[in-house]
Amino acid sequence: MKYLIGNHKMNLSYAELEKYFAELKPIAEASDNFVGVCVPYVYLPLASTMCKGTKIHFGVQNMYYAEKGAYTGEISANMLKDFDTQMVILGHSERRSIFKETDEMVNLKVHKTIEAGFTPILCIGETKEERETNQTNDVLKTQLVGGLKDVSKDDLGKILFAYEPVWAIGTGISATKEDAEETIKYVKEVIAQMYGIEDLAQIVVLYGGSLKGDNVDEILSQPHIDGGLIGGASLKVEDFNKLIAYKG
Ligand code: 13P
Repeated sequence: MKYLIGNHKMNLSYAELEKYFAELKPIAEASDNFVGVCVPYVYLPLASTMCKGTKIHFGVQNMYYAEKGAYTGEISANMLKDFDTQMVILGHSERRSIFKETDEMVNLKVHKTIEAGFTPILCIGETKEERETNQTNDVLKTQLVGGLKDVSKDDLGKILFAYEPVWAIGTGISATKEDAEETIKYVKEVIAQMYGIEDLAQIVVLYGGSLKGDNVDEILSQPHIDGGLIGGASLKVEDFNKLIAYKG
């Protein structure tokens, strides 16, 4: 079983998503993989209604950590609970770079997401410059240590991690299977060391960054890669289906 989770980002209209869920339903039903879609907040009522009783898991792409109050434009955990939200993407590189989210903020969101009973999808990843100057491991370690501050070992098991090299997101150029495997193995080793975990298989890490039908087999067949977080190739059911169909 692999995790195939779509991150729709700020795409699709209401009508398009309605059609999308209707088409995805039988595909998810027939798949042994975990099929998920993270939608813009405003489509949560639609996702909640259309995914109920199906094998499509759904979530959102961000959440604020405060309980309630004067946070214009933000969305709280309790609001998400009203629509049976299951997953929340946290610390996506677009949130970090465009909206200036820090590891400290991501960490507060991780705690709130777990407290609310949702599954956090905690994203980490290095920029092109960081990779080219051999800082990848340091950057990932810093993001992990910061993002997981004061998270207990019990709660760690509730988190899905996503390694998304920033230079591979939306560029059409994915990491090679060797680089993705080596880096994800490193991510698991860092977490294992932080928590005294012996079996790396207890830690779930997905790969994200230009994952699509023609590279899904080689990337997901790597031993430490537990699935994919997919942007562009999740927007059309026809394309997403090529990933969901992964067997191995
Ligand atoms: P792409 O699949 O479009 O590269 O996006 C990956 C991503 O950012 C998923 O969160």
